[in-house]
Amino acid sequence: MTGPRLPSELKIASQAAEIAQEAGALVRRFFERGVATEYKGDVDLVTEADRASEKLIVERLSAAWPTHGIFGEEGARQRMESEYRWYVDPLDGTTNFAHGFPVFCISLGLERRRPGLADGQDGELVAGVIYDPMRDELFAAEVGRGAWMNGRRIHVSATKTLSESLLATGFPSRKRHANPNIHFYQEFTLRSHGVRRAGSAALDLAYTACGRLDAFWEFNLNPWDTTAGALLVLEAGGTMTDFAGDLFRLDSREVLATNGRLQQELIALFANMFSGKDLSPIPTPREYAAARQRG
Ligand code: IPD
Ligand code: CA
Ligand code: CA
Repeated sequence: MTGPRLPSELKIASQAAEIAQEAGALVRRFFERGVATEYKGDVDLVTEADRASEKLIVERLSAAWPTHGIFGEEGARQRMESEYRWYVDPLDGTTNFAHGFPVFCISLGLERRRPGLADGQDGELVAGVIYDPMRDELFAAEVGRGAWMNGRRIHVSATKTLSESLLATGFPSRKRHANPNIHFYQEFTLRSHGVRRAGSAALDLAYTACGRLDAFWEFNLNPWDTTAGALLVLEAGGTMTDFAGDLFRLDSREVLATNGRLQQELIALFANMFSGKDLSPIPTPREYAAARQRG
């Protein structure tokens, strides 16, 4: 398979990258052809492409590393007792994909779980690959060997303040009415250059790693969304925590990725907002309409 390459010392990531690129080419063919969409939940979509991509990835990972475990979004559970475990998002950004909005990717992250680690405890993030088949952009990292994009070393941005930053977030597709993120979206939008909501958490993390975004936050992500991206952000010099600044965990219900420089300011704003402060007053639609009528 041709395409962007990685330095030869990133052996695991290079092999995983080939798999992600093959899955990406498959997903792209489905995208160009168009596929039927099914519902997994309220607005949680799945397509033939998600399943075909996961099947291919499971076959390729199993052939490359027959002893490694696999935990895939579309149901793959293999060798879960293994020391090494791949977290597979075969198509991150399915809603975009289903609507013809060309922002989605494949995400493969590898965790090493030393023997004796209890369920619920995190191992070490070892390697991560995120591939965007529409832009042919390959993001990859290995622990201690840096983060890379299409063969070039990448680093988080140097932006120092929230007021000069570009951020990203996403909204959960399940239990939407029970989630307060719209308030954070409002507040961060009013205090920054803007908040993008592009629909692929893995790409949001990859973009934070390479400095296109200064920070990213989201509630209720899953390990298949975050494992690869978390390692990319850390290896690119950024931070991965929850909204209170505690270390990021794979089963965390809160993800805050930053370029490091913005971390304290963002955590302080989260803390203030969770305690009921710092919500800017903006007019309700009714107040706005009344004011418009008054001229
Ligand atoms: C979704 C995307 C989206 C995020 C959702 C995820 P999927 O993943 O990453 O950006 O906001 O929370 O579920 O379902 O397209 O793989
Ligand atoms: Ca996902
Ligand atoms: Ca997915």
